[in-house]
Amino acid sequence: MCGEEKVLSLVQMAKAKENLDPCEAARYYFEAAGELLHCSQEKPHRTEEFIEVAQKMYDRATILRKQEKSTITFLHQPNEKKDGSKNFKDIGGLEQLKDQIRLKIIEPLKQPDLFRYYGKQAGGGILMYGPPGCGKTLIAKATAGEAGVHFIHVKGSDLKSKYVGETEKNIAQLFENARQMQPTIIFFDEFEAIGGDRTDAAPHERNAVAQLLTEMDGVDTKNQQLLVLAATNEPWAIDSALRREGRFGVTLFIPPPDAHTRTEILESIMRSRPTERLQYGLLATMTDNFSGADLKGVCENAVEIALTQSLKTGKRRLITMQDMISSITNTKSVLPQWFAKAQEQVRKRHLQDSFQELFEMVLA
Ligand SMILES: Nc1ncnc2c1ncn2[C@@H]1O[C@H](COP(=O)(O)OP(=O)(O)OP(=O)(O)O)[C@@H](O)[C@H]1O
Ligand SMILES: [Mg+2]
Repeated sequence: MCGEEKVLSLVQMAKAKENLDPCEAARYYFEAAGELLHCSQEKPHRTEEFIEVAQKMYDRATILRKQEKSTITFLHQPNEKKDGSKNFKDIGGLEQLKDQIRLKIIEPLKQPDLFRYYGKQAGGGILMYGPPGCGKTLIAKATAGEAGVHFIHVKGSDLKSKYVGETEKNIAQLFENARQMQPTIIFFDEFEAIGGDRTDAAPHERNAVAQLLTEMDGVDTKNQQLLVLAATNEPWAIDSALRREGRFGVTLFIPPPDAHTRTEILESIMRSRPTERLQYGLLATMTDNFSGADLKGVCENAVEIALTQSLKTGKRRLITMQDMISSITNTKSVLPQWFAKAQEQVRKRHLQDSFQELFEMVLA
């Protein structure tokens, strides 16, 4: 497929993805815009028209990229490989973490009998914490893809209701649904929004934590095949009762990517883009302290530099090392600031023993 036909098909795919996965939709729009520019070279008499449409797609893609997915989403049905679903191959580096997840999440759900034989419970809760943009949500999605079980993705803020009693009902309903279709992974993203420390909360918000505690205790006893994953970048704000054994007793720190991981992330993002030969090792060295999200931003900005120029000149050109370097120079990582805040908050609450990893990281 080529030319306008390909553009049309990309736009259709983008439209279909707009609500489900805005980032994926944005990628299709970017690709369609690039393809249209290519068409304009072959049909110079329609250049102006094509450039105008490409600009619209590009604007739409930019809006979509800023849009976060909200609402409760059922991402996977068991054994169903959905378009856009993730697995561990999509995660650069973090090998030890993947092994831990295999042992603590995937295998217990896949082989509950084996785990029971050795006196180990399948199910329970795991809390992932770490700086923003370093892959917590990506890991949860990839875990679901690897395990091939039902996966319920819910943002803390989506369960929260301003009406008294509603949040607890939402939580109870969620667990009930999950129980009915187990084996299931429930993933609470932005966990601090509902699992926040009760001493800091309004009375009706305390009930949400109480409901979560009840449900989590149930997970350990009645429901062997229900696993609850939670992610937060404010671990100090999570109610301490939720972090006890049998609830979210296991905490996993998701660190910023090291140089090797940064190389893999940069390569995986740029693989599908038209680039000159890029020196990924050098780019990784220049992005010390950058999160995965920062790296994604760097790549998208470099693409935009090349695309904007192509829109202006009507000529396609490859994305260059220089585009990547200018993009890096214009990107500031938020990680040093986050670590400073995290250490301060953890010290203030005397939680150093629970979150030691925060003090072991040395940022330049
Ligand atoms: N190890 C990694 N490999 C590949 N991509 C990564 C990795 N870490 C982060 N990314 C990319 O960076 C972006 C941000 O990651 P993600 O949304 O999972 O971060 P997060 O830890 O959940 O952040 P937040 O705390 O803000 O929710 C994603 O687009 C993801 O694809
Ligand atoms: Mg996230």
